[in-house]
Amino acid sequence: MRFVVIMDPVSTVKVDGDTSFALMEEAQQRGHRIDHCLNTDLYLDSGRLHARVAKATLQRDPKHPITLAAQEEVCLHDVDAIFVRTDPPFDDNYLWATLLLDRVKDDTLVLNDPHGLRQANEKLYACYFPELMPETIVTAHKDRIREFITRVGGRAVLKPLGGMGGAGVFVLNEGDSNVNPIIEATTLDGRRPAMAQVFLPAVKTSGDKRILLLDGEPLGAILRVPAGEEVRSNLRVGGTATKTDITPHERHIIDTLAPRLRKDGLWFVGIDVIGEKLTEVNVTSPTGIQSMSRLDDKNLCAPVIAWVEQHVKKSAR
Ligand SMILES: Nc1ncnc2c1ncn2[C@@H]1O[C@H](COP(=O)(O)OP(=O)(O)O)[C@@H](O)[C@H]1O
Ligand SMILES: [Mg+2]
Repeated sequence: MRFVVIMDPVSTVKVDGDTSFALMEEAQQRGHRIDHCLNTDLYLDSGRLHARVAKATLQRDPKHPITLAAQEEVCLHDVDAIFVRTDPPFDDNYLWATLLLDRVKDDTLVLNDPHGLRQANEKLYACYFPELMPETIVTAHKDRIREFITRVGGRAVLKPLGGMGGAGVFVLNEGDSNVNPIIEATTLDGRRPAMAQVFLPAVKTSGDKRILLLDGEPLGAILRVPAGEEVRSNLRVGGTATKTDITPHERHIIDTLAPRLRKDGLWFVGIDVIGEKLTEVNVTSPTGIQSMSRLDDKNLCAPVIAWVEQHVKKSAR
């Protein structure tokens, strides 16, 4: 089969950490052809979507994890699957790429569905399920955020809606002299909404659980524990991954989300759960599969690529 992976430049790839790299490597081992391109390499000609791609060869070499062949053109209606794995921000180019990919999705499996990618801002999507979430507001108003901090007992987390990897996530303590400037910086002085959420002390004692879901079913989980005085458990800011299981209540969270994820074509997602409360649904480039596979001593990429093999749109081949 021929798979096209739309992602960031190959120079950003981390061999031992990237989920995109691990999925591509698994696809290569299964004998598929993998092409790499950027979201700006898509082009529409007479209503059909094409891309300028380069055939990718993967090797576990931290200096040169992916070798790209010469660029060539491909009609995306003729390939078997397209993986959208560009990291946030969800900027204009990202939006336009999803609109272009809409043109091809009846002929070619697109993972995740471009319509779903537009539906699912990673922070806001969880808010479809307020009963599963910690107490949360989304607003650009400083006074509302200040009131919220008081309402939830004096400690809240403030996060930008477009962030990832813990970037821009602040803890606000009532009475702290940095509360106002942090709110102003995050909301651009009231010109951009942000998410304020009750601070969950469980993050320090039991960490932030990442559960990867494939077609609404749990693939695996890891617990990320923040380093030192940090409250952010993201691996890229020093969080440590440890082995974990899925609790009955987390299974309930997954079963509640699953029908909506399937309806939105969000086939491969990562949910974040702190103290059994859902905080985030990562859909753009969910990660964690490498640490999960290592800790569970299983190749978790295999079921993902097997799922893709089973769901390609045969009529296009
Ligand atoms: N409500 C919360 N209470 C305590 N810690 C939180 C809360 N929300 C987020 N965090 C911490 O901040 C980290 C990043 O937050 P998250 O919402 O997952 O955004 P992202 O990972 O997209 O940057 C989490 O992994 C967690 O350690
Ligand atoms: Mg997160």
